[in-house]
Amino acid sequence: MNDKEILHFINTNDKNEIESLFKRAGKVREEHYGKSVYIRGLIEVTNHCKNDCYYCGIRCSNTNIERFRLSINEILDCCQTGDELGFKTFVIQGGEDPWFTTERVIELISLIRQRYPTHAITLSLGERPATDYELFFQNGANRYLLRHETASAEHYTALHPSLQTLATRKQCLCELKKIGYQVGAGFMVGSPFQTPDCLLADLRFLEELQPQMVGIGPFIPQKDTPFCSYPQGDLTLCLKMLAITRIILPKALIPATTAMGTITPNGRELALNAGANIVMPNLSPVKAKKLYSIYDNKIILGDEAAENLQLLKEKIINAGYEPDMSRGDAKQ
Ligand code: 5AD
Repeated sequence: MNDKEILHFINTNDKNEIESLFKRAGKVREEHYGKSVYIRGLIEVTNHCKNDCYYCGIRCSNTNIERFRLSINEILDCCQTGDELGFKTFVIQGGEDPWFTTERVIELISLIRQRYPTHAITLSLGERPATDYELFFQNGANRYLLRHETASAEHYTALHPSLQTLATRKQCLCELKKIGYQVGAGFMVGSPFQTPDCLLADLRFLEELQPQMVGIGPFIPQKDTPFCSYPQGDLTLCLKMLAITRIILPKALIPATTAMGTITPNGRELALNAGANIVMPNLSPVKAKKLYSIYDNKIILGDEAAENLQLLKEKIINAGYEPDMSRGDAKQ
């Protein structure tokens, strides 16, 4: 798609045009992945974070939040629950918490790898030195999620304190790819100060990076952040971005994110219809789910909880897709 076409889709309100964009994305997804929707188990391991992103509820300046951190044993318990439910991918996600030293993360990965030799281990632990990424990979991690958040350097500066830069974020993503991880990038839709050109830059960046996974979700204000009074991202715009991403990266694994399900009850089904093919129900203990409040009103009940896997599967089937509990690696 050329720039003009992309900007046209971003701006259009024409229902038929939007509907045909989703159909086209759905077809592309079906060519590569059929009707499969892969299910991953998400484990939120810590809401301590040394960063201060203006949009995020677990930013270090937020004093109005109870902090938690799961122990290695608690994380292993979540993996066991997940394994018993049939999950073949564990996503270990957390804020940038200095407690998770190189040694501790290696210990965690090694223990998971030992117990589950063939499962996929996905990490989502933020920016770390390349040597860490290397060691985690050598010890059994397979995938790494690190959203780029916005591919416009100017916009990145508007969303983060000056210590955090787009250049560093891009550098991390490049290193992860080079090491051999299946890499996930991604961005928020409707974050403050975002323009259509920012979104175009996001898509062009994805094309250049060629990540195996792309996480896209609406910005949702969180009450204790500097962005508390900005409006949430638009659902349709989010779905459009998802669909265009599917078209330009046909083999990408694209989640129907929790944020989508948070802004609209059937948000994740709509995301599947626009080209998404992953869902990541939450395996964390209830307390962790509640405290991992990156934005307000995050859904934690119903099919969002991994324990209610059956309900989630039914919803996927009712939406016209096939729940798939295999590892679901990206197609080459
Ligand atoms: N609204 C929506 N998404 C958010 N994230 C962080 N804060 C918010 C928010 N207020 C997203 C970021 C981050 C991911 C873990 O959650 O894109 O990478």
